[in-house]
Amino acid sequence: MNKLLSTLLALFVASATNFAHAQATPAAPQAPQSQAPGNAPAGPASLQAKIAMCLGCHNIIGYQASFPEVHKVPMIAGQNAGYIEAALHAYKGGERKHPTMRGIADALSDQDIKDIAAYYSKLGLEGGTKLADKPGDEPSPQVAALLQKANCVSCHGANFSKPIAPNYPKIGGQHADYLFVALKQYKTDNNAAVGRNNAIMGAIAKQFSNAELKSIAQYLGSIQGDVKTVPESRFHKHE
Ligand code: HEC
Ligand code: HEC
Repeated sequence: MNKLLSTLLALFVASATNFAHAQATPAAPQAPQSQAPGNAPAGPASLQAKIAMCLGCHNIIGYQASFPEVHKVPMIAGQNAGYIEAALHAYKGGERKHPTMRGIADALSDQDIKDIAAYYSKLGLEGGTKLADKPGDEPSPQVAALLQKANCVSCHGANFSKPIAPNYPKIGGQHADYLFVALKQYKTDNNAAVGRNNAIMGAIAKQFSNAELKSIAQYLGSIQGDVKTVPESRFHKHE
């Protein structure tokens, strides 16, 4: 157990260092791979030990990442469980490129990923969702036309927070700067450290200029959503 924790800690520190370097070097070095091959790595024993690897970034309000550009770390509390799982598997398999998250996902077994996804999807949403069917703030006519063009609501659902499939994300109320980075990543091909191979969103994002993606991201980030950052202090009281 101690050995395991120190391995994880080393991984974490290495990832954080990798992160710090990422801003200076556009092609960030790969985060260290975990020792064990394939699905074999034994994850931390308890859920709490697994979540401990995430707290330093995903449970600090306003925490910023600097790779591939400065943006807030995505909110994952209240996110769809199936999507959290899909995202972690995509990092692990390399379809979704991000050296730090890959290093972290590599240390998780399939069971760890299931447990963590179940945990975060309920965190902060104990009373269920309280969202109305439509966002309180209407988009500007320009943004409304962009959202209409690719019919975002048809997959991401009412309020952009009731996705039609378990492995689709809630995007309403997510950090605008992260949404913008995410949307641009779907347009990025042939880069070893940046980009997401998702056929659906790839085809959609490529229909828009970066300026258009930015105004979409700003609107989606401004509306109310289910996703949250639940600070660590609250997290502890919860246990
Ligand atoms: C060093 C900071 C850091 C740590 C530690 C960290 N993450 Fe992340 N995480 C990020 C960043 C930055 C992103 C956005 C990466 C991208 O653009 O794909 C991210 C993305 C994610 C996503 C995708 C979110 C989305 O909306 O698509 C999930 C899920 C996730 N992390 C889960 C975890 C879990 C679970 C842990 C702990 C086991 C963890 N992360 C630890 C920084 C971190
Ligand atoms: C046909 C269904 C579909 C449509 C239409 C669609 N999306 Fe998506 N979207 C998805 C799926 C599936 C994913 C998850 C992809 C992945 O795993 O990377 C996704 C992911 C995303 C993400 C990444 C979220 C995160 O947390 O990283 C953003 C942002 C997004 N979509 C925005 C949009 C916007 C804006 C539109 C309209 C312009 C749109 N989507 C239209 C299916 C769709």
